[in-house]
Amino acid sequence: MSSYDAIAALYDPWSRSVTEDVDFYVAEARKAGGPVVELGVGTGRIAVPTARAGVRVIGVDSSQRMLDLCRARAEEAGVAELLDLRLGDLRNPPVAERSALVTSPFRALLHLASDEERVQTFRAVHDLLVPGGRFVFDVFAPSEEDVEDTHGRWLEREPGIWEHADWDLDRRILVLSVRGESGETSMELSWRAPDEWRQFLGNAGFEEIRCYGWFDMRPYAGGEDTVWIARRPTR
Ligand SMILES: C[S@@+](CC[C@H](N)C(=O)[O-])C[C@H]1O[C@@H](n2cnc3c(N)ncnc32)[C@H](O)[C@@H]1O
Repeated sequence: MSSYDAIAALYDPWSRSVTEDVDFYVAEARKAGGPVVELGVGTGRIAVPTARAGVRVIGVDSSQRMLDLCRARAEEAGVAELLDLRLGDLRNPPVAERSALVTSPFRALLHLASDEERVQTFRAVHDLLVPGGRFVFDVFAPSEEDVEDTHGRWLEREPGIWEHADWDLDRRILVLSVRGESGETSMELSWRAPDEWRQFLGNAGFEEIRCYGWFDMRPYAGGEDTVWIARRPTR
C-alpha cells in the first residue's frame, strides 16, 4: 500500500493549480524523444501531455490507484498506447530499457527518506540513461516564511481539500496530511539543501549538473524550488 492510494481520487483536484512545470517537462521530452522514463508518474499530470506531444512514456509509480487513474486519463486523451505504466519503486525502477531522459517531476524525490536512498536512486537513474542522457527533476526546501505560515494548521488548499503541515526543521522532514471528501492520508517528505542534491548527483556519476530556480530556467537565487538537469557522461 502507498500513502497515495487513499487520496488518488483527490490528487488531480488537489494539484489543479500546479501547471507551471508542464510545458517545461514536455519540451524536455520532445528534445530527448521517447521513451522517457518518469519516476513517480502519478495520475499522468505530466505523462499525458507528454504522450499527447507524441513522446512515449514509461511511467513508474508505487501506487496502483494513481496508475489506474493515469491509465483512465490517458485513455480519455486517446494516448494510452503511448504510456507504459509499471507498478514499482523509483529506488529500483522496473525498467530494463535505456532512455535519453529520466524525469521525476513535482517533488517526487522528496519521498526518499535517507541520503543512502538518494544516492541509490541516482545510481539507478544513471544506469537507466544512455551515455549523454539527462536526468531532470524538481524538489524544494522550505523557506522560514512558508514554515511559519503553515506549521500545525489545517489550510484549505482547494475547495474542500485541506492540508496540514508539520515541519521538523532539525530532521528536515515534513509530515503532510491531506483530507477531502473522497479520502485522507499522511505522508513524510524529506528535503535537502541544493548543495547536497548536487553532491548526491556527483556521487552517482552525473556531470554537467545544472540547478535552476524555476521552470523558465532562471538561475537559482536562493528560493524554495530547484529544478535540476544532470547528464550521464558520454564516456
Ligand atoms: C507528488 S506526486 C507527483 C506525480 C506526478 N509526477 C506529477 O507531477 O503530478 C509523487 C508520486 O510519486 C509516487 N511515489 C512516492 N514514492 C514512490 C516510490 N518509492 N516509488 C515509486 N513511486 C513513488 C507517489 O505514488 C506519487 O504518485
